[in-house]
Amino acid sequence: MSLDSLGDWERTHDCCTLGPDHTGSKVTLMGWVQRRRDHGGLIFIDLRDRAGITQVVFDPQRNAQAHHRAHALRPEHVIGARGEVRLRPEGMINPKLKTGEIEVMVDEYRLFNTSLTPPFQVEPDVDAGENLRLRYRFLDLRRPHIFQNLLRRHHAAQAVRQYMNDSGFLEVETPVLTRSTPEGARDYLVPSRVNPGKFYALPQSPQLFKQLLMMAGFDRYYQIVRCFRDEDLRADRQPEFTQVDMEMAFVNEEQIFQITEGLLQHLFEKVLGHKLEIPFARLTYDEAIARYGTDKPDIRFGMELVDVTPVFANSNFRVFAQLIEAGGMVKALNLKGQAILPRSDLDKMQGKDNLANHYDVQTGAQGVAWIKVQENNWQGPVAKNLSDGEKDLLAKTAGLEPGDLILFVAGESKVVNPTLDILRGHFGRRLNLLADKQYCFTWITHFPLLEYDLAAKRYVAVHHPFTSPAEQDLEILGTQPEKVRSRAYDLVLNGNEIGGGSIRIHDHDLQQQVFKALGIEEDEAQHKFGFMLDALKYGAPPHGGIALGFDRLVMLMCGADSIRDVIAFPKTQKAACPMTQAPESVSLEQLLELSLKLDLPG
Ligand code: AMO
Repeated sequence: MSLDSLGDWERTHDCCTLGPDHTGSKVTLMGWVQRRRDHGGLIFIDLRDRAGITQVVFDPQRNAQAHHRAHALRPEHVIGARGEVRLRPEGMINPKLKTGEIEVMVDEYRLFNTSLTPPFQVEPDVDAGENLRLRYRFLDLRRPHIFQNLLRRHHAAQAVRQYMNDSGFLEVETPVLTRSTPEGARDYLVPSRVNPGKFYALPQSPQLFKQLLMMAGFDRYYQIVRCFRDEDLRADRQPEFTQVDMEMAFVNEEQIFQITEGLLQHLFEKVLGHKLEIPFARLTYDEAIARYGTDKPDIRFGMELVDVTPVFANSNFRVFAQLIEAGGMVKALNLKGQAILPRSDLDKMQGKDNLANHYDVQTGAQGVAWIKVQENNWQGPVAKNLSDGEKDLLAKTAGLEPGDLILFVAGESKVVNPTLDILRGHFGRRLNLLADKQYCFTWITHFPLLEYDLAAKRYVAVHHPFTSPAEQDLEILGTQPEKVRSRAYDLVLNGNEIGGGSIRIHDHDLQQQVFKALGIEEDEAQHKFGFMLDALKYGAPPHGGIALGFDRLVMLMCGADSIRDVIAFPKTQKAACPMTQAPESVSLEQLLELSLKLDLPG
């Protein structure tokens, strides 16, 4: 098929603009063929660009040659069409289309390019697998809803910049080739050719650099910045992702919360026209775990967990009593009015294969016990083993009423809480409890500073080692490190962790003490973070900050299920790009140049 050049043609409109007011105008449109229909001697083309679709009509009476050539048009061919706007005839109006009242009668047309038959249709709903869509991402991105997501992401980035600039923050770029920062994930390493045997690490975040900017007196820093983490991937995790990163000098938690809430309010208003209520809710870490079983609770609905350990401590229900004797706990979830749930659903929760284990988190729960509460009749294996007194206590603790179904999980807190968190989420969705509340933010505060890592046999930082301990807990840092609370906080939106930050340590000696509690010896600390420790000796101001997960935030603002839907060129769950085929092996010469030798298994 012979192609035409663009020549001196210029577009007059995009494919979403024309309406009845343009009737009679001469216009030039350009775009992709979405669909061709031959009907009653006329050829109708749905012409698509990023803005939308306009119907263009080839009529042999207007231009016989163009009409003839238009027979060959196929989906994804690229054309330009010049002609006159007219109102669609009675009965042909398409109310679903923004331009559905008009069509363009073609006088001249140019074919700029053809297309092979696409491996999947460029339609809103395709049933192609994700791998195929990512392999042909340039086609996938032509689908309107993916484009709309990226458009929204663009608007979100603009809104962030506007708010931060207006609030006195300076946008500063920080290095991508750097040293490892201890954020807890594995680093991506880049070998240095000119320093054989030495490696850069791609930053897991600009944490140390933003603190150094505070020490440099920059006062307020922000950056929309790419971060890299080699960790197991999930629907809300990518190996490279974007943070809205910020840091401020001379602030406490309150000022950071205020700025962040203001930023989000501005962002939601500008991008979604949605007014967020501030200040956001707050929960301490301990409260969140006690009431929701997780440090990222979805507070769009109640259905809180209840600790019913005292009910079972001395009960005849030996399974629970033994677990409690071994230091465990029993917690419950009261599903109001759900005694009607069929037995088959309850059976699904039994044994090792219980419902909670069907989600992507393996909680290790042995099973979920239940009682159906009916007037004068409690059903289920647990009920038989409870005395009247224990039943009364249970009814009081869990607020039981006839018609309720109560679920129990027993064991160690690290099993019980995540299992009930999953069950709460499952039933929250299933019982439609989150429908009318769109965006529920909550701050989680007072995280523990350290946690014991069984594999590493030492304490590790829950956030990162530069997080300040709570002042009132400083005296127990040496003796009871696990009890020390930190000045770290997370921001949670509808059960998703969308941000985290802290007030930092600005005192050199305290930083050394925290390194010591982490089992990092002085010379190791000097070797790894010497520059940071040096900077702390030269007048470091009190400072703190936060980073928001920009992809996650945009995902939630778009109502998308996966962050891959709001990233132009995302990676698969195996951290690969099916389009560019990255990662890929390299030539022997390249390896030699980098002084590297491969020793692959098998
Ligand atoms: P943190 O590690 O909590 O904090 O990261 C901040 C936010 O980034 C998002 N996030 C991710 N998003 C997508 N894919 C990932 N793999 C991924 N990992 C994290 C989350 C998270 O809340 N330097 C500190 C911030 C600070 O202390 O100021 C930091 O990076 O939404």
